[in-house]
Amino acid sequence: MNNKQQMRYYSIFAVAVGSLLTACGNSKSESTVTATTEPGVAAANQPAVSHPLPGDPEAGKEIYLRACSACHQPDGSGLNGMLAANFVSDKTRLAKPNEVLLNSIRNGIIAENKVMPPHKDILSDPEIKNALSYIRKTFGDQ
Ligand code: HEC
Repeated sequence: MNNKQQMRYYSIFAVAVGSLLTACGNSKSESTVTATTEPGVAAANQPAVSHPLPGDPEAGKEIYLRACSACHQPDGSGLNGMLAANFVSDKTRLAKPNEVLLNSIRNGIIAENKVMPPHKDILSDPEIKNALSYIRKTFGDQ
């Protein structure tokens, strides 16, 4: 290997180590955000993670009933998932981190045969956080 090749080899190696470190750093910070239960304790039939409320559930009630319940329904079932996400029977929904759900509410979702419109232009960010807090508290075993 001549000097030039060696240099190239080293720099490729450095990039590889760098991205490995970044990848480890990312997965570490993700796991500290999501895993609040001890490993091994969470059985498949238990809600594995409890999430902090991002806002005020009391203030979110009125927002939920006004802006969300036409689709999600006052009982959170989304008419058994036909109109919207069913928070009551589909526990995978509220198992997602706050930031993921808040972004879905802010920007909307296009699902196979139904749509949630974006809410960022009709509700303030604190209002969106309060609405999610009401949902978590009322339908999410909090
Ligand atoms: C026009 C109907 C409609 C309205 C209004 C609506 N949603 Fe939704 N919502 C949906 C649909 C449809 C989905 C996605 C269903 C799917 O993916 O199968 C959804 C999904 C969600 C999810 C799950 C997101 C995810 O990433 O899994 C949350 C949380 C949510 N809505 C909260 C709200 C809140 C809070 C409001 C009121 C501010 C609201 N929605 C208003 C129809 C609606």
